[in-house]
Amino acid sequence: MSKHVICHSSEIKVGAHKVFTVGRHSFGLFKVEGSYYALKNLCPHQGMPLCEGAGVFDQIEGEVTADRKLREFVAGEKNLVACPWHGIEFDIRTGQCLYRKDWKVRTYEVFVDADDNLQVELPD
Ligand code: FES
Repeated sequence: MSKHVICHSSEIKVGAHKVFTVGRHSFGLFKVEGSYYALKNLCPHQGMPLCEGAGVFDQIEGEVTADRKLREFVAGEKNLVACPWHGIEFDIRTGQCLYRKDWKVRTYEVFVDADDNLQVELPD
């Protein structure tokens, strides 16, 4: 694993996100409730670029305990990204799929350095 400087923290606004590529790794960088998260840009459904979908950045209310309908939460609530292809939603903070409990997108650790740059730790 190696840390890579990706961008300055001011480039990732609350309620927005960007997609970056470092070598063979493509990921979305999100800011949720003052913390940064990196999510692999690969949907486990049919392998499409998940992080090019809309992010929704409010609180998840209650526990995710059952399979969910497609785009159930995307209309203005929760800390979710919805895949732009078929609308399956994932928790940005954990990568957990809300539609299928057995699907989880890989997350990467994000660090803020002394200059307020965002570093993401990626596999070598
Ligand atoms: S490829 Fe992402 S929901 Fe189908």
